[in-house]
Amino acid sequence: MCGIVGYIGQVDAKEILLKGLEKLEYRGYDSAGIAVMNEAGVHVFKEVGRIANLRGAVDESVEATAGIGHTRWATHGVPNQSNAHPHQSASGRFTLVHNGVIENYHLLQQEYLQNVTMKSDTDTEVIVQLVEHFANEGLSTDEAFRKTLSLLHGSYALGLLDEQDAETIYVAKNKSPLLVGVGDTFNVIASDAMAMLQVTDQFVELHDEEVVIVKAASVSIEKLDGTKVERAPYTAQLDMSDIEKGTYPHYMLKEIDEQPGVIRKIVSAYTVEDELTIDADIKAALSEADRLYIIAAGTSYHAGLVGKQYFEKMAKIPVEVHIASEFGYNMPLLSEKPLFIFISQSGETADSRQVLVKVKELGYKALTITNVQGSTLSREADYTLLLHAGPEIAVASTKAYVAQVAVLAITAYVEGKSKGLDIDFDLKAELGVAANAIQTIIDKKEEIQQVADAVLATTRNAFFIGRGIDYCVSMEGALKLKEISYIQAEGFAGGELKHGTIALIEEGTPVFALASQKAMSLNVRGNMKEVVARGANPIIISMEGMEEADDSMVLPAVQELLTPLVTVIPLQLISYYAALYRDCDVDKPRNLAKSVTVE
Ligand code: G6P
Repeated sequence: MCGIVGYIGQVDAKEILLKGLEKLEYRGYDSAGIAVMNEAGVHVFKEVGRIANLRGAVDESVEATAGIGHTRWATHGVPNQSNAHPHQSASGRFTLVHNGVIENYHLLQQEYLQNVTMKSDTDTEVIVQLVEHFANEGLSTDEAFRKTLSLLHGSYALGLLDEQDAETIYVAKNKSPLLVGVGDTFNVIASDAMAMLQVTDQFVELHDEEVVIVKAASVSIEKLDGTKVERAPYTAQLDMSDIEKGTYPHYMLKEIDEQPGVIRKIVSAYTVEDELTIDADIKAALSEADRLYIIAAGTSYHAGLVGKQYFEKMAKIPVEVHIASEFGYNMPLLSEKPLFIFISQSGETADSRQVLVKVKELGYKALTITNVQGSTLSREADYTLLLHAGPEIAVASTKAYVAQVAVLAITAYVEGKSKGLDIDFDLKAELGVAANAIQTIIDKKEEIQQVADAVLATTRNAFFIGRGIDYCVSMEGALKLKEISYIQAEGFAGGELKHGTIALIEEGTPVFALASQKAMSLNVRGNMKEVVARGANPIIISMEGMEEADDSMVLPAVQELLTPLVTVIPLQLISYYAALYRDCDVDKPRNLAKSVTVE
């Protein structure tokens, strides 16, 4: 949700900033801008749309060895040039990029900035105008910056330039992610290490309410109250090939193809002495809990629904799954000994984080399941389980979902086994079978493309139905389709469709059915007959051993609880091809962002 970068060093900053922003486009791509600073002053370039547009707007003749950049996902103000970052103070002395939301910006504007004519509709502009306001009252830039920060309510990652000091970038963060990258002759800032891997793999984490003075030769971190902070850099465990798409046309297709390997990597990461295992303290926390509360958003919420089935069936622990944005403000009556599980690919989702903050205030323990080591949700929880999926760059989540389901299965299985419960299959072996099944489906992607082209090319809506665990995957299938192809799609419990939604079925409406659960397969087929009788175009996806003559796809059989790992694959591919057919931007769908750091 907005990405920021900054560079200060010896070489020209423009290309480093632009390349960095390209790596952050997954965070938002409504508009983008950079500001570069040299002895002659600050030069701002901004453009609506993608970084590619911004490149065209940058004046190549301007040379500068310091600068900041921003790629935007609009919250306050439409995506136009004046609302694009960087924003400047009235005199042009201060220039700022911001990721986050300032909740009290309007009050601050009324209290301090009545005489300032605003140039944008953003909350961000208030910050930079406030810095100038306090500098005009005689404060140094450092003091004016701190004074401004002390007034802000909300989330921010900030990079500030003062044209009277070409050797400093002022940096601060609260709730929104931000890292400092260190080099021998330069230093950088970035919302995500990926952006600056081009120049360094050494990064320093920043914590909330820290202020950082970044110069080419030094990085000084202080808390808002002035206390010095010493924090050693860590080495980012990423290499450029993880974050490039190579010969693939889209990251999404690359990430779909990576899924068998992700499952194998997870199995190896969670295997000790040939047995699946998780940390003893996580097992203890699960054993002590009388109920699990899974909190997540989007695709991760759908993985959580599958996780409920795993914990209840394999570990015999009752589970509630909640949408993060609802839970924090409508907390249900909690059990006596709850354990909270946060599922988040990015580990940064603000909706989930606000719940985690409340849960910690109440004194409860939390486990985060995330793909990003060191992310906010991981740092602030008591325990973390990593997804080991590698960076996921396409906005629509694929391999992270499969990784979430696999890690949830391992966690529930290990807990069930450690309680001595009877689980009549070997999960490690069955995950291997599932990885092979995914590979088989991926190897036949052309067949899936034909289905997508045949049934989704022109339709305005589509439905996905399933029962039990298939219902969970139906919702994920529908979400994938709407995210990237903009086809109105809904996932329904097979039996529920007839209680209202069936009114939407018209001649030719595509209805996808998942039939992977023995006990419910006939029921879901019955539900399909109901929609076919009303003109629907049926696409039944079943499993070997349960197939019938007219099924559109028969997937390799896997252990019944692990079907979400494989039934989701054709649905991901169907969405991919539908989006391609409709000429949609697969990796960067309209209006979305991958890391949603505002509530
Ligand atoms: C955004 C993304 C979704 C994602 C959701 C949760 O809305 O567009 O793809 O599922 O956030 O993200 P998380 O990082 O918490 O899993």
